[in-house]
Amino acid sequence: MIVASHLGKRYPGGYEAVSDASFVIDAGQMVLVTGHSGAGKTTLIKLIASIERPTSGSLVVNGQNLSALRRSALPYVRRHFGMVFQDQKLLFDRSVLDNVLLPLQIVGLPHREATRRAQAALDKVGLLAREKARPIALSGGEQQRLAIARAVVNRPTVLVADEPTANLDRESATDILEIFADFHRVGVTVVVATHDQAWVERCAPHVLRLDHGRLV
Ligand SMILES: Nc1ncnc2c1ncn2[C@@H]1O[C@H](COP(=O)(O)OP(=O)(O)OP(=O)(O)O)[C@@H](O)[C@H]1O
Ligand SMILES: [Mg+2]
Repeated sequence: MIVASHLGKRYPGGYEAVSDASFVIDAGQMVLVTGHSGAGKTTLIKLIASIERPTSGSLVVNGQNLSALRRSALPYVRRHFGMVFQDQKLLFDRSVLDNVLLPLQIVGLPHREATRRAQAALDKVGLLAREKARPIALSGGEQQRLAIARAVVNRPTVLVADEPTANLDRESATDILEIFADFHRVGVTVVVATHDQAWVERCAPHVLRLDHGRLV
């Protein structure tokens, strides 16, 4: 469960990108964050994923008050999150499978178990047949699915994504939406920032709409 109360983020320089935001996202819910360009969607997603720290208010995720945690504790908190960001940082000199293996190698999972789990994640996003390919050989939608496989391979309780369908055609965008909906169905909390009106309609009323940093 994610509980924000009077949450605010003021960037150095003084601009308050998120102001006085209070909301609750129940465990297992799928919630969209929407709003105009510059409304604060990315900032809110980064606050939830503990990539940015609040400058006011409080944010409690799975019972942990992120605003009160010491900086050194944040990497451990982030392990509960799967994150799909616009700047995907795929490793283009490694195979599709290696890209998904990486987060498991970081936590020290034995190779056989890691391979089994990475292949299962690739299967979920429909990319198992491409495991030996290089990411450069994948389409934009396939690269986005690879980023999702990498984000979920550690079995996060919360999956956050920032505009995962930007630059994709309708068909690929729908595929991506279905993948997130599948994770939601098996109990993962899903929070996605998007401009996509089709998604917003489908997920209504579970939509957080931002206007100049404020929830409306
Ligand atoms: N690191 C930063 N330092 C200073 N200001 C920032 C920073 N990141 C974002 N902002 C400002 O905060 C506001 C909200 O930005 P944010 O990226 O959260 O918006 P967004 O809703 O994701 O927009 P878009 O739809 O264009 O991605 C913007 O005015 C932006 O210029
Ligand atoms: Mg953004």
